[in-house]
Amino acid sequence: MSESTQHHQQADEKGSARTVSGAEIQLKDVVKRYPGQKNAAVNDLSITVPAGEVVMFIGPSGCGKTTSLKMINRLIEPTSGTITIDGDDIRGRDADELRRTIGYVIQGGSLFPHLTVADNIAVVPKLLKWDKKRIAERTEELLDLVGLEAGRYRDRYPRELSGGQQQRVGVARGLAADPPVVLMDEPFGAVDPITRQRLQDEMLGIQRELGKTIVCVTHDIDEAIKLGDRILIFSEGAKIEQYDTPENVLAAPANDFVADFVGAGSTLKQLSLSRVNELNFVDWTTARIGDDAQDAVRRAEAAGQECVVVLDDRGRPIAWPWNRNLRRASTIDVKRREELVTLDERATLNDALDTMLSSSHAGAIVTDARDKYLGVVDFESVTAHIRTQEAAAQEAQEARSEEAAS
Ligand SMILES: Nc1ncnc2c1ncn2[C@@H]1O[C@H](COP(=O)(O)OP(=O)(O)OP(=O)(O)O)[C@@H](O)[C@H]1O
Ligand SMILES: [Mg+2]
Repeated sequence: MSESTQHHQQADEKGSARTVSGAEIQLKDVVKRYPGQKNAAVNDLSITVPAGEVVMFIGPSGCGKTTSLKMINRLIEPTSGTITIDGDDIRGRDADELRRTIGYVIQGGSLFPHLTVADNIAVVPKLLKWDKKRIAERTEELLDLVGLEAGRYRDRYPRELSGGQQQRVGVARGLAADPPVVLMDEPFGAVDPITRQRLQDEMLGIQRELGKTIVCVTHDIDEAIKLGDRILIFSEGAKIEQYDTPENVLAAPANDFVADFVGAGSTLKQLSLSRVNELNFVDWTTARIGDDAQDAVRRAEAAGQECVVVLDDRGRPIAWPWNRNLRRASTIDVKRREELVTLDERATLNDALDTMLSSSHAGAIVTDARDKYLGVVDFESVTAHIRTQEAAAQEAQEARSEEAAS
C-alpha cells in the first residue's frame, strides 16, 4: 500500500467512518469491436475496481470510455472477455435484472419528460415492486441527499427544472434502489462551474456516507482528481496509460501522454489532495499563561525560534508573541487576545499555504478538532512532504514497471 493511500484511510478514520456497500467490479481481457470498424473500440481491457471506491475514467474523445462503462451494465455486450461484479459473471444474469442493481447516471440526467420528479426517481423501485410508502420515503430521502427540497420539487416535471436541478434528480434516480454499483457518464458535464462544484461536493458527501462502487467518466482532470480514489487514463482503444491514485498520477505521471493530460500545475493540484495532518509538525516552544516569560524566551532561543506559542489552560493556542515582545515581561500574560489564525489539521495544504502566506510568522499553528495545539507547520514542511510524495510515487511506479518487465 502506498503511503498516500494509508493517509487517505487515516483521514477517513478521523472523519466519518467509511461504510462500504459497494461491490468489486472486474474486467478481464475485455474487447469490443463494433461492426464495420477496423480497430477495436476497447482492445483487451483488464482492470479491477475495488468495492466502495470511485474510479474516474478519463481520456481523449473516442478512446472507448463510454463503451467500457456501458459493458458493465450490459447496455453494450463485449465481443469477448469477462466482466464480474462481486465475483459473478454478468453474462449469467438477466440484462434487465442486472440493470436494476446498477445505478446509471448520464449527462443532463436524461429524465423522462412525461414523469414528475418523484416518478422519475421511483422508476427502478417500482420495477422492484417496492410498496408505495417505502418509495415515497426513499424519494424524500434522496431529494434531501442531492439538496432539493422535496415539498417544492417532488411534483414538478423535468421541463420545470434548471439543468443543474435535472442533473441532481438524475443522480437521485441513479441511487434510488440503493445499488452497490453506480455508473456515471459525464454526469456533471452540462452544468455551469458553480453548480458543477456543488454537485461534485454532494457526490463526495454521498459517497462518504454510502460507500458505493462508482465508475465515472469525465473530461475534466480536476474533477477526476477531486472525486477519484483512482484515476484511469485511457488512450485510443481503451489502452490503459495509467491507473493509479490521484496523488501518484500527479506526482509521477507514467509517461508523456499522462503528463500532457494532467497538464501544468500538477504540484499545485497535489496541494489540494494532501492534508495538514500528513505533514511533519515542527515542535514549537510553548508556554502557558503565568509561566516564567524569560524562561520561555530562553527555550525558544535555544530552539532557534523567534516566538513562543501561548496556550490557555485547556491547551488551546491563544497567542504567538515574538521573543522581543516578551523581553520585559516577568510572566506570560495575554492582555489583548489577538485574532490568532490557526489551521485545522484536516485542512488541505492549499489552505495551509494560504494561511502561512498571510501570516507574519511564515508558518501556521495546527490544532485538532477540539482546537488543541498540535504543532507548527512551515513552508519547509510542505515542500518536504511533496518531495516525499514524489519519491514514493516514483518508487511505486518503478516497482510496477520492474514487475511488468519480469
Ligand atoms: N455504435 C457504434 N458503432 C460503431 N462505432 C462506435 C459505436 N459507438 C462508439 N463507436 C466508436 O468506438 C470508439 C469509442 O467510442 P466511445 O463512445 O466509447 O468513446 P468515448 O471515450 O466515450 O468518447 P467521448 O469522450 O467522445 O464520449 C469511437 O471510435 C467511436 O466512434
Ligand atoms: Mg463517451
